[in-house]
Amino acid sequence: MKVLVTGGAGYIGSHLVWEFLGKKCDISIIDNLEFGSQSLIPKNIDILVADISDEKKILKLLQKKKFDIVIHLAAYTKVAESVRDPKKYYENNFEKSKKFFNFCIRNGINKFIFSSTCAVYGNSNDINLFENCKKNPLNAYSDSKWKVEQYLEKISLENNLSIVTLRYFNVTGADDQMRCGLISNPENLIKALCEFILGKRKKFIVNGLDYNTKDGSAVRDFIHVSDLVDLHYLAAEKLIKQNKNFYEVYNCGYGKGFSVLEIVNAFEKIIKKEINYKIGKRRDGDAEIAVANVDKLLKEFNWSPKRNNLDIILESSLNWEKKILNL
Ligand SMILES: NC(=O)c1ccc[n+]([C@@H]2O[C@H](COP(=O)([O-])OP(=O)(O)OC[C@H]3O[C@@H](n4cnc5c(N)ncnc54)[C@H](O)[C@@H]3O)[C@@H](O)[C@H]2O)c1
Repeated sequence: MKVLVTGGAGYIGSHLVWEFLGKKCDISIIDNLEFGSQSLIPKNIDILVADISDEKKILKLLQKKKFDIVIHLAAYTKVAESVRDPKKYYENNFEKSKKFFNFCIRNGINKFIFSSTCAVYGNSNDINLFENCKKNPLNAYSDSKWKVEQYLEKISLENNLSIVTLRYFNVTGADDQMRCGLISNPENLIKALCEFILGKRKKFIVNGLDYNTKDGSAVRDFIHVSDLVDLHYLAAEKLIKQNKNFYEVYNCGYGKGFSVLEIVNAFEKIIKKEINYKIGKRRDGDAEIAVANVDKLLKEFNWSPKRNNLDIILESSLNWEKKILNL
């Protein structure tokens, strides 16, 4: 399978690249390295350091390789920043994605996987988030993703394309062999906790303890990045077999929620020490509960996640953080 991955030098992209290479795929990456790093990906990988809007550079690659499928992960990902600067997010995540998809289609590609987010559901009262639940993006980040989703559904029909949109819940953890992990994203809860535990951060704040949840802190569905990457492979295999119009969306999580305080407690057990957190205000644009309903995913794919265990997730995150802090 010849696969083009945008954002392939980023957190999720780098795990995807290692995994797909292990399955003997022919992989190429486009990444402008604004947030990605070549240190996360194999040394001999085919990488085009370019923006997804740089059609001149991308044309050469598309003509040379004739890809079977494009997996589009490149995006800005910080919710708080998108609240401050929505234009930046609509421009990079929506306008540039639209342009990039159309450019690929004009150059003969008709199979795509798109990275979306559970944040498209916003602050839903549904404890059980099905794919067809009401969408209510609360910030420019999630709205830019929702706009791309709607656009893809429309053009898939018009252009006879086969597309899978994956709505990731909270992606976390690091590669089992520690070849890659999360290097940037101050908003990531588990990374922030690891940094606090290892002394890189001076304080750790629980953002909001007045949510209507079991212990007052927000609840999330944490999925290990390597299990998520396996889902991309299954989706790619499915799309390769399609030769007619196909558009489907799948929630990607484990279908189980943990509160922020439960994560803190689980870390305390791992490190055998109390974590002295501070309580802060809710952040703008944060949802109360986001837990996937994964019935559709499990029905469609023969997926058996290997790391659906909080200790595995937290320990791999902590080990990665130790590695990048040289501890
Ligand atoms: N991490 C999560 O929990 C999570 C949850 C839901 C959805 N997602 C989605 O998954 C995808 C990957 O996220 P990530 O966590 O790996 O983020 P990341 O920032 O680590 O990776 C994104 C990569 O895209 C690159 N990039 C951004 N804009 C680009 C552009 N215009 N041209 C070329 N390269 C560009 C960056 O340099 C970076 O390497 C994103 O689309 C994100 O919205 C992530």
